[in-house]
Amino acid sequence: MEGSIIVSAEQSLYDRLGGVFAIAAVVDYFSDRILENPIAGKASPNPQLREWSNNQLGRLPGLKFMRTLWVCAAAGGPQQYVATKPGETLMGLENAHRDLRISSDEFDAVAGVLEESLDHFGVPEREKGEVLGAFAAHKEEVITGSKSAAA
Ligand code: HEM
Repeated sequence: MEGSIIVSAEQSLYDRLGGVFAIAAVVDYFSDRILENPIAGKASPNPQLREWSNNQLGRLPGLKFMRTLWVCAAAGGPQQYVATKPGETLMGLENAHRDLRISSDEFDAVAGVLEESLDHFGVPEREKGEVLGAFAAHKEEVITGSKSAAA
């Protein structure tokens, strides 16, 4: 077609997921589902997660916003993640999670909820794998608080 440009570059994960509205819908659903998860939510054996999930829900809309921002930035979208508790790197999550003392098992339970949430929205296998991979790449940061000596 006259004037058309052939774009051969691969679309970003952000575009393949459907952009900010599709990502926000998954994060919204996922964040609500975590609260009902027996390992990481309202009945979690982790006192910090239990307290947050029962008594800090005024922060839930902000958490959904920050998670959406993070995923958009991690997926190559135009948004920039600006942490409230910056870590060592731009996308670093260690300081945001340190006081929650999240364990490896708790992290894995949340990864399971994320996988179910991506399935719920029919995200294809390839994109699902990439989102789960981006999440897993930050596991050590998220669980660092469970490894430090008791305060
Ligand atoms: C790679 C995995 C994870 C990502 C990408 C992620 C993302 C985020 C982001 C972006 C924030 C906001 C940080 C800020 O205030 O700047 C946050 C806070 C939080 N995250 Fe995560 N998170 C992850 C794992 C987890 C896990 C496994 C849990 C366990 C349930 C969890 C629970 C929370 C809670 C409760 C807060 C809110 C803390 C507050 O009230 O300020 N996160 N997370």
